[in-house]
Amino acid sequence: MAILITGGCGYIGSHTCIELLKAGQDIVVLDNYYNAKPEALRRVQELAGKEFPFYECDIRDADGLRRIFAAHKIDAVIHFAGLKAVGESVQKPLEYYDNNVGGTVTLCQVMAEMGCKRIVFSSSATVYGMNNPSPLQEDMPTGAVTNPYGRTKYVIEEILKDVCVSDPDWTVVLLRYFNPIGAHESGRIGEDPNGIPNNLMPYISQVAIGRLPRLSIFGDDYDTPDGTGVRDYIHVVDLAVGHVKAVDFALKHTGAEVFNLGTGTGYSVLDLVKAFQDANGVEVPYTIAPRRAGDIATCYSDPSKAERLLGWKAAHDVVDMCRDSWRWQSQNPQGYGD
Ligand code: NAD
Ligand code: UD1
Repeated sequence: MAILITGGCGYIGSHTCIELLKAGQDIVVLDNYYNAKPEALRRVQELAGKEFPFYECDIRDADGLRRIFAAHKIDAVIHFAGLKAVGESVQKPLEYYDNNVGGTVTLCQVMAEMGCKRIVFSSSATVYGMNNPSPLQEDMPTGAVTNPYGRTKYVIEEILKDVCVSDPDWTVVLLRYFNPIGAHESGRIGEDPNGIPNNLMPYISQVAIGRLPRLSIFGDDYDTPDGTGVRDYIHVVDLAVGHVKAVDFALKHTGAEVFNLGTGTGYSVLDLVKAFQDANGVEVPYTIAPRRAGDIATCYSDPSKAERLLGWKAAHDVVDMCRDSWRWQSQNPQGYGD
């Protein structure tokens, strides 16, 4: 019995591999290295003290997938593989629909053909769109998304729910992540974005290490306590543990279920900058810039359903998140290197 991890070399996938191995699961990993380096997996094996099968394979390659399912008894799939840059998705929508939506359809077709009908999918809080008030709950309306990336997440959620309706043997667990930050406490694996980061925490840590001159805070006139955007930051290791619980759930249930994975607490941009400076004793120079198109003022979760049904609750606080992000960045100033 093994769990197949698509996109297992990426930021969240690599941390999840470690937590699954720690929990005693056998894993098989696939990735096409589009946004990852082999070094990440080498370090996962070093940290876990275990080797596992890896396939360089694209989720759109049905024959490649068939070979993996034929070589291993796969009980469930955790499906991370996909493209995730919001701005890029506006420039290249067809690539995003092809990779994310097309890739997921191919993966599910091969899964059904090979008799594996359990999938845990990486969705996003972005599916709640612009119109719902926080704390966000799983039964609120979804779909009012503002960019192709978000739309791929919404469409995949709907496709996977349709698959469950069509065949009662399927199990689908949709995990809506809030804002993952932090890194493994060893400082050996972490987030290694290509080029200039889009997201707040990698930007803060690259300013702190001197790779970037200063942070631009996108707007200080939102209707929030200090005027800057409020988000639900969650430690990537807590998120990874959430996947271990979600797989346990998927192995015991059928049908489709949706869970928020967040802490339930919102922090503003200024809160996070201050927490990072205080936790690490470093300076993060910033200026106030105009709002970023598509941003909302406030987004945080109600995580109680995951606690109730999965027995999962985030354990790390914002100080842990800032300290672990900085340990990774300061020990690996160029990420995984070339
Ligand atoms: P990541 O880019 O680090 O990891 C994704 C991995 O998938 C990469 O290793 C990449 O090489 C691989 N991949 C991409 N397309 C592939 C394909 N066609 N075939 C095989 N492998 C492919 O991203 P991440 O931050 O680890 O995110 C993982 C998942 O979680 C993604 O689906 C992302 O959209 C989703 N998500 C991420 C966040 C976040 O803030 N990081 C938030 C919400 C949802
Ligand atoms: C973004 C994506 C979202 C995706 C999520 C995780 C957008 C509009 N949304 O969410 O679809 O699921 O990442 O990948 O891109 N900020 C700054 N300066 C910066 C960067 C960010 O002030 O240089 C602010 C933002 O305005 C926001 C907060 O920091 O208030 C968090 O931003 P970010 O890390 O990009 O995440 P989200 O916008 O929540």
